[in-house]
Amino acid sequence: MKRIFSGTQPTGEIHLGNYLGALKQYVELQNGAECYFCVVNLHALTIPRDPADLREKTLDLAAIYLAIGLDPKKATLFVQSHVPAHTEAAWLLQCISRIGELSRMVQFKEKSKGSAESAGVGLFTYPVLQAADILLYQADQVPVGEDQKQHLELTRDLAERFNRDYGEVFVIPEVLIPKVGARVMALDDPTKKMSKSSDSKWNNIGLLDEPKQIEKKLKRAVTDSENEVRFDREQKPGISNLMTIYSALGGLSLAEIEKKYEGVGYGQFKRDLIEVTLESLRPIQERYAEIRHSGYVEEVLRDGAERANKMANETLYKMREAMGLLQF
Ligand code: TYM
Repeated sequence: MKRIFSGTQPTGEIHLGNYLGALKQYVELQNGAECYFCVVNLHALTIPRDPADLREKTLDLAAIYLAIGLDPKKATLFVQSHVPAHTEAAWLLQCISRIGELSRMVQFKEKSKGSAESAGVGLFTYPVLQAADILLYQADQVPVGEDQKQHLELTRDLAERFNRDYGEVFVIPEVLIPKVGARVMALDDPTKKMSKSSDSKWNNIGLLDEPKQIEKKLKRAVTDSENEVRFDREQKPGISNLMTIYSALGGLSLAEIEKKYEGVGYGQFKRDLIEVTLESLRPIQERYAEIRHSGYVEEVLRDGAERANKMANETLYKMREAMGLLQF
């Protein structure tokens, strides 16, 4: 049986980009693999957070995991800081990481806004903690959106380096990027990716947005003046992005969508997209409201932490042995 690991930061509102790029894949994968899905709250600390808010958002995200259909009987759901092995493994991996390779990480460059001098050290070593997350579970595959590809390449490099220098400890993980939805773009600017950290409320659709908000955001979403529903990322980035969302949520291929709206125009397309989006999110929102404050989420996370600790500690033991750390 294949083993799967992935994680999401409990920051901002979880949006359609997160869902279509990663979370929806988690749900599909849980039936045929041993899965670990983590709320990566330690990663969230790389940027200053309000402590009370971080605690709430950690539970919010765990509730979203459950609401989208992750089943704790099939997948292990847990919080990163509940498994101390992650931070120790991250240190061990930092000792084989190079400043040069971490300096090349695009997300670091973006988030530090080109000013390495004042950027946090945690932001710099962030991808090594991510590598530790993945490697501790000996994951064969890691479902993520396209923006995480470079971090996955680094993870593979570190695993290969460790195996070469200290002996075979790690499985080399593969990245799993969805065919549709790997890079969902911002609704108000389809040249940028949809993002939790955007200042604009028109950027994304949150999984928990009110129906009225969703309708407004999709109505305002940028298209172009051609009024022709045709997929062309270069020339028509706005409509192409909306078609991607439609396809991923509605189950029609891009070609089928083009055919359906041939000669019909953007008005009808957008009305249908609103319907498809509301229909897809309604059951998630209902389930979320049911469980978020019921005590169930905490129960799932306690159980998940126990299972995750077991797996992670086995690998950490091997890492320590391999590196010559005395263990009794
Ligand atoms: P995060 O929290 O930014 O995003 C969670 C997942 O959502 C995907 N994603 C997108 N996919 C498509 N279009 C978008 N606009 C979009 N925005 C985000 C991300 O690719 C990701 O899969 N570093 C990770 C968290 C992490 C992790 C891990 C992931 C920590 N440890 C180990 C996998 C394995 C992050 O910040 O994701």
